[in-house]
Amino acid sequence: MARETWATRTGFILAAVGSAVGLGNIWRFPFITGQEGGGAFLLVYLLFVALIGFPAILVEFVIGRYTHLNPVGAIRELGSGVWNHLGWLFVVTGFVILSYYSVVAGWFLRYTLIGVTDGYALSGADEAGALFGSVATGLDSLLFHAVFMALVIGIIAAGVRGGIELGVKVMVPAIVVLLGAMAVYGFTLDASTAAYGYYLSPDFGTIATDWQSILPAAAGQAFFTLSLGMGVMITYASYLGEDRNLAADAGVIAGLDTLVAVLVGFVVFPFLFAAGIEPGAGGPGGIFVSLTTAFGDIPAGRVLGVVFFGMVGIAALSSAISILEVLVSYLIDEVGVDRLPASVALGVAVFLLGVPVTVDLIFLDLFDKLADGILLVLGSLLLALFVGWVVPDAARAELGKGIGDLGSLGTAWIWIVRVPIVVVVLVSLYLGIVDYADFLTGDLAEWLAAR
Ligand code: PHE
Repeated sequence: MARETWATRTGFILAAVGSAVGLGNIWRFPFITGQEGGGAFLLVYLLFVALIGFPAILVEFVIGRYTHLNPVGAIRELGSGVWNHLGWLFVVTGFVILSYYSVVAGWFLRYTLIGVTDGYALSGADEAGALFGSVATGLDSLLFHAVFMALVIGIIAAGVRGGIELGVKVMVPAIVVLLGAMAVYGFTLDASTAAYGYYLSPDFGTIATDWQSILPAAAGQAFFTLSLGMGVMITYASYLGEDRNLAADAGVIAGLDTLVAVLVGFVVFPFLFAAGIEPGAGGPGGIFVSLTTAFGDIPAGRVLGVVFFGMVGIAALSSAISILEVLVSYLIDEVGVDRLPASVALGVAVFLLGVPVTVDLIFLDLFDKLADGILLVLGSLLLALFVGWVVPDAARAELGKGIGDLGSLGTAWIWIVRVPIVVVVLVSLYLGIVDYADFLTGDLAEWLAAR
C-alpha cells in the first residue's frame, strides 16, 4: 500500500504548527515564565528557540523526508548499531507526554463547560483554588481525560488527510485571532503597565544568578513547545513530497509558535496582575486559579473564559494527535497493524498510563519533569549527534532539495548542529537530571513518606 501524503502544500505547515501550538504555549509557557523570573526567562527562551530550536527542527525534517518512514524505521534505515534503538526512546517519550498532556487538556475541557453551565463568578482566589482542586483530580478529571483521549483516537483513526489536515486548518487561525483579541483586551486593564514591565524587561542579574535553573527550563520549554525530541517532526516530514523548502517551513513554524506563546503572555500577565496574583505562584494550577479569578472579575469575563478555555482545548487536540500519530505510524509501518486497531490499542494504553495523574498531581510532576527535563532533551541531543556526525552529507543534500544550492549555509548548519547545539543541550540535560534527582529525593520522597 502506498504511504499517505499531505493533500495540500499548506497542509503540512498547518499540521506542524498545530502540533507545536498547544498546552506548551498556553499552560506551560506562562507558568514557567512566572517561576523563572519573567522577562529574564523570556529572553533566554527566545534565544533558545532561534539558535537551537530552529536548526533542530531542520534536523528532524531532513530525517523524515529523506526516509519517508516513521522515526523508529527512519533511524534504523540511516544508522546502524546502537542508533537502531533510538526510535524506542521516542516511543517511550510519546507515551509519557501524552498520558499527562491528555489529563491537563481534560481540565481545559472541564473549565469550558463550567463557564457554559455556571460561569466563573467566584468569591476570590481561595474559591478558585478549591475549584481547581475539584477539577484537577478525582472522577471529573478521569472522565475528561477519557473524553479527550477518545477525541484524539477518533481523529487519528480517520487517517492523515481526513483527520489532521482538515482539523488543523480551522483550529490554528482561530487560535491566533482569539488570542490577539484577548491581548488587546488585556491592554485595556489598569494593571497592564506593571504586567508588561515584569514580562518584557529582562533583569540580567536574575539571569546571572539563576542560570542553572533558567537554562534547562528554557531548553526543555523550547523543545516541548516546538514538538522536538520525540520524532513528531520526523513523522510529519515523512509524509512530504520532495519539493518543499524545509528551512522556510521551519521558519514559519517556529515563528508562529513563538508568536502564540508571546501573545499568551500578553493575555495572562495583565490578567494575573489585575487579580493581584504573583505570577510564579501556583504551578500547574496557577493559570486556572488566576484566570478564573480574573474572568469572574471583569466585564464579559464569562464569555471570554469560555472562549479562552475552549480554544486551548482545541489547540491541545492538534498537539495530542501529533504525539499519538508517532506511536501509531510506528505500529503501522513496523508491525503491519491496521490504522484503526493501532489507534485504539495505543490510545487506550496512553489513557491508562495517565490515570494516576488524575488521582494525585505528584504524578504530573513525575511525568512532566521526566519528559520535559530529560527525555525530550536527550532525544534532541541524540538526533543532533546523529545528523551532525553520522549522516552529515546525506542530511546536507536532503536540506538542499527544494532550496537549491546551499553553498556554505549547509555547512554552517551542520557545524551548528555538531558543536554549539550539542554542547548547550548537553549542559541543559545535565542540569535537568540534577533537578529531577532533587525532585525524586525531595518532593517525591516526602510524598511517599506521607502515605
Ligand atoms: N508542542 C506541543 C505543545 O506545545 C506539545 C508536544 C510536545 C507535542 C512534544 C508533540 C511532541 O503543546
